[in-house]
Amino acid sequence: MSQLIKTPDDIEGMRVAGRLAAEVLDMIGPYVKPGVSTGELDRICHDYIVNVQKAIPAPLNYKGFPKSICTSVNHVVCHGIPSETKILKEGDIINIDITVIKNGYFGDTSKMYVAGKASILAERLIRVTQECLYKSLAVVKPGCRLGDIGHAIQKHAEANRFSVVRDFCGHGIGKVFHEDPQILHYGQPGTGMELQAGMTFTIEPMINAGSYHTKVLPDGWTAVTKDHKLSAQWEHTLLVTPTGVEVLTARSEEDLSFLGA
Ligand code: MF3
Ligand code: CO
Ligand code: CO
Repeated sequence: MSQLIKTPDDIEGMRVAGRLAAEVLDMIGPYVKPGVSTGELDRICHDYIVNVQKAIPAPLNYKGFPKSICTSVNHVVCHGIPSETKILKEGDIINIDITVIKNGYFGDTSKMYVAGKASILAERLIRVTQECLYKSLAVVKPGCRLGDIGHAIQKHAEANRFSVVRDFCGHGIGKVFHEDPQILHYGQPGTGMELQAGMTFTIEPMINAGSYHTKVLPDGWTAVTKDHKLSAQWEHTLLVTPTGVEVLTARSEEDLSFLGA
């Protein structure tokens, strides 16, 4: 059963799951280099989640998804399937999306990595996309509306001449992977559902260097940009607190002091 407002026990469970998901992103960083296959990255994450964290990789067998993580390289927008034959080359950019289940609770987070050194454009896309996530986190507090979140992202992406993917969105999360509400990454300020303390959901903007149109490959999962230009994504799972936001998937390297407290 999904519920919009989490109990204190739920929130503690979500903190644990969120921390584990974030730690997988920290752990895998040093392995992301030219020459590694996305299949190997999947194996390393799978073994770490199962054997070290004693947790469950949520994507594995989720609606038929065949692997434990999503690896989305260059023009892949999201839901890239790890494979032994997909080998990273110098300058590739990759989103690794980790979702773990611990004690029945889900933690969902993703970040961008570069194999070697990326182009100026790729670096800018990665940075602006993370700024979009951060600007949207900064508006989260009770009384804020979903359209305010979408607007913060859209405004910053378009000011930088990038586009916001429409075909995928963030989501409520708890004891269920994807629950209400849907979190659109574009929108009008002052519209949509009002946020209340105790809600937990993801914000996970996908920002394209070209147009926002996407298509799903015949494997049924891999979403790519229609124009084959680059796409980037960053994701956090968060809790609405009485005064603002708590980022449940914050990493140790991250400076979230701009959120206050
Ligand atoms: N982690 C993704 C999200 O952010 C969902 C992946 S579903 C999968 O919602 F099946 F592709 F793994
Ligand atoms: Co998500
Ligand atoms: Co995710």
